[in-house]
Amino acid sequence: MADLKTILHIDYPIVQAPMLGVTTPAMVAAVSNAGALGSLPLGGLSSDKARELIRQTKALTDRPFAVNLFAHAPAKEVNRGDIAIMQEFLQELCLEFNFPFEAQNPDTFQFHYYQELIDVLLEENVPIVSSTFGVLNEGITAAFKQKGVVLIGTATSVAEAKVLEQAGADIITVQGIEAGGHRGSFLSEDTTPQVGLFSLLPQVADAVDLPLLAAGGIYDSRTVKSAFALGAAGIQVGSMFIAADESAASNAYKEAVLNAHDTSTVLTQAFSGRWARGIENEFMRRMDAKGITIPYYTIQNQLMSSIRAYAQKNNLPDFVAMWAGQSAGKSARASSRDITTKLIRMLPPN
Ligand SMILES: Cc1cc2nc3c(=O)[nH]c(=O)nc-3n(C[C@H](O)[C@H](O)[C@H](O)COP(=O)(O)O)c2cc1C
Repeated sequence: MADLKTILHIDYPIVQAPMLGVTTPAMVAAVSNAGALGSLPLGGLSSDKARELIRQTKALTDRPFAVNLFAHAPAKEVNRGDIAIMQEFLQELCLEFNFPFEAQNPDTFQFHYYQELIDVLLEENVPIVSSTFGVLNEGITAAFKQKGVVLIGTATSVAEAKVLEQAGADIITVQGIEAGGHRGSFLSEDTTPQVGLFSLLPQVADAVDLPLLAAGGIYDSRTVKSAFALGAAGIQVGSMFIAADESAASNAYKEAVLNAHDTSTVLTQAFSGRWARGIENEFMRRMDAKGITIPYYTIQNQLMSSIRAYAQKNNLPDFVAMWAGQSAGKSARASSRDITTKLIRMLPPN
């Protein structure tokens, strides 16, 4: 099997996880400049915004970096009854907490699917494309392959890893249940596999013949060493970068992450309709207690957009999605370069 560092043209087998809303071009460049791989999240963004972010990153580094896409199909069913009930609940909440409420018309919902970004990525000669939430379609995979673009898929189960291998992925990120942010799961809309990295990684290593990146709960030399012992060729680290100097996270979010402990995070569909791990807050508890059907991604994401924006602007952490993993509290405020250098020192000798 080809060596991960050789495939990715990097010095160290460390990937900074793409984190939409947190990762900035400055973070990506700092990680790549330190000899690891920075990843620029582009999921759901317009092609103009994607091009702008890629160019900003290129201005800061001439090392390779990855860009990240959300490779999902549109929500299968738009159930207007569920949307109406959800909007009623959100309106009640806004009234109670004195937030402005904007009723939304599902007919006007728009989302930038990954297909819109492909021309930009090819034109900008992006060398590495990682994706989550699914499999890139055949034509797009072929176009990337023809240009020599390295493809990284995300799996949360052995079955997903096999599908990705079959579809032409070059590398697989194996995402354990500990991981912060959205689950990359794609074989079922309603449930998400909940396998811990310790169980998932060796089983995926036995099932597929590709280099694997371990993602979820990696923060010190013991967890790094375990990832390699369990079959990983590299590590993908997200939560350790949330409190980085170059992170776009608000101060309240950084503080919540720095103060998190092992049980501070939960899996929720409340914010976006897709399962994700974040620091538990009042909004998640209210949604749980209400017990109503949460419209699937991207519908719920769109229904929540004005509340999230208001909460973000007014520093109200109880209504912002503070995605973080189960070991997020082990992070520290530091530059992305220093966080990367620390991770490099944790690598086992070759
Ligand atoms: C704030 C946040 C945002 C994330 N956004 C993305 C994303 O845009 N694309 C993606 O593939 N993964 C995303 N993830 C998941 C990471 O790629 C990775 O699986 C996870 O961070 C690893 O676990 P850790 O947080 O315990 O290090 C996100 C994770 C976090 C914490």
